[in-house]
Amino acid sequence: MARRLSRNEPCWCGSGRKYKHCHLSKDLETLGHPREVGVLPNGVIIKTAEQVAGIRRASRLTRDILDMLEGRIGPGISTGQIDRWVYEYTIAHGGRPAPLHYRGFPKSVCTSINEVVCHGIPDDERILRKGDILNVDVTSIVDGYYGDASRMFLIGEVSEEARKLVEVTKQCLERAIAVVRPGARLGDIGHAIQSHAEAHGYSVVRAFVGHGVGVRFHEPPDVYHYGHPGTGLVLQPNMVFTIEPMINAGGYEVRILGDGWTAVTVDGSLSAQWEHTLLVTEDGVEILTGGGKR
Ligand code: MF3
Ligand code: CO
Ligand code: CO
Repeated sequence: MARRLSRNEPCWCGSGRKYKHCHLSKDLETLGHPREVGVLPNGVIIKTAEQVAGIRRASRLTRDILDMLEGRIGPGISTGQIDRWVYEYTIAHGGRPAPLHYRGFPKSVCTSINEVVCHGIPDDERILRKGDILNVDVTSIVDGYYGDASRMFLIGEVSEEARKLVEVTKQCLERAIAVVRPGARLGDIGHAIQSHAEAHGYSVVRAFVGHGVGVRFHEPPDVYHYGHPGTGLVLQPNMVFTIEPMINAGGYEVRILGDGWTAVTVDGSLSAQWEHTLLVTEDGVEILTGGGKR
């Protein structure tokens, strides 16, 4: 369980000084109370410096895997091939792919094409064609810590409609990241996404959410991609979670195919998604899966 750090304990920052002589007054200013350590009553984990360091390493591997794929994905490549590249690169760099055998998922990565919203299963028979839009969702485990991110790939030349959906969805994620700082609330994140998507006539998928991440694949809190500003969980330093909006060109309803995983739009409209793992820092946000080629 979480507790508030007491005044005479060593400061959380590792300075070796007492909390009251170090970060206490700054924490009172930004949070209104002494910093919490451990697990909040709602299950949200305030990460230690050691956990953050581990999650940063896993997140960098996830980002490097997506960078590696940038140079390789194109028309004529199968999603089964992408799965093998992800598996081999992950193992070669000391990690494990989190999706493999997670709740029975059969592959190392999710590949979601066109009207597939998320959790598409890689398949040697599915060859990428010019005009497809593809989401590749990578989660790596390094030393027991998790980093989770996804990007869109345009296969050859795509329609103007598809390109715009992918671009606006990326903007939704960027707008959401821009509001993350101590004292901001989860509803601020949802609102930043929903208002932008709906202004373009798109809809926000409700059936899947972002999530706490780091010591497990999926932890509290649920991070909704829609909502009202000033509502929901108040963000604190050393929370780690994903934001991963799924935006549909048509309605937001999804259904799951017979394989038990693949989520598609009910109306057959295109869907796009971008995802990062984020750390709430003392004065803002660090994109743990960022800093690569995109
Ligand atoms: N990476 C996905 C997410 O962003 C979860 C995939 S679960 C899997 O949360 F089993 F399909 F891999
Ligand atoms: Co993911
Ligand atoms: Co995720």
